Amino acid sequence: MADEKIPRHVADRFATAKRLAVLTGAGVSAESGVETFRGEDGTWSKVNVEDVATPQAFERDPAKVWQWYDLRRDKLKSIEPNPAHYALAAMEQHFPHFALITQNIDGLHKRAGSKNIIELHGNIWEVRDTVTDEITVLREAPLKELPPRNDKGHTLRPNVVWFGEMLPPGVMEAAAREAENCEVFLVVGTSAVVQPAASLPIIAKRSGAMVLEFTLHWTEISDFVDHTFLGKAGKTLPPLLDLISK
Ligand code: OAD
Repeated sequence: MADEKIPRHVADRFATAKRLAVLTGAGVSAESGVETFRGEDGTWSKVNVEDVATPQAFERDPAKVWQWYDLRRDKLKSIEPNPAHYALAAMEQHFPHFALITQNIDGLHKRAGSKNIIELHGNIWEVRDTVTDEITVLREAPLKELPPRNDKGHTLRPNVVWFGEMLPPGVMEAAAREAENCEVFLVVGTSAVVQPAASLPIIAKRSGAMVLEFTLHWTEISDFVDHTFLGKAGKTLPPLLDLISK
């Protein structure tokens, strides 16, 4: 049920919880100017997943895949975290245990001050050596050479998870542990359709957590969560902070 006010039982359970876990998606960065993936104007209505976000695409044409990532990296340089990122970073200061699980690769949670972050889909500022798998940070954007190479001459790829690839080892296990062991689980700005991330709210609910959703539009999990806050996360998350800062 959508409701702009925070129901009393939700407020009480949130304010008294000791263990919080959060799953975020592209919607949390939308107010910063980062495009979401699905919907009319979403990324996947303009670009084919198969051309830019699969290992096959990279094998076929690494420069083309890199052109797309280089553009995204360049745009991100001038993008700032928004009130939703800051509200989540502030919550981490309050709860004895707090974990932020994100599908986003933009690094904005860290820039807003969040510390205990589990990045399910990697990070756009990291690159991986395609020969040795060594991960390094590469901040330069736009890049001079596409695809970029390291000093060994090895081609580098973005250290992100593409469709058809496994998540980095241990990452999903860590996220599932947080979902299992939290008292309150927040789902922020995700359509919750991409697996395995989409299973996390279900794991949390089955383990007894109160699941709260913050989204612009109804999603496939809205019927199953304890409460859906409809609206921009930059507006709907900060009121929760008021409950714990009194
Ligand atoms: P989606 O684009 O699928 O979903 C974004 C969600 O955020 C939608 O439910 C919107 O209603 C909601 N939303 C938009 N603006 C919002 C705002 N200001 N405040 C709150 N909610 C808002 O993005 P994700 O669910 O993150 O994976 O997509 C999941 C994965 O699919 C991504 O990590 C990416 C993508 O393909 C890979 O690339 C592997």
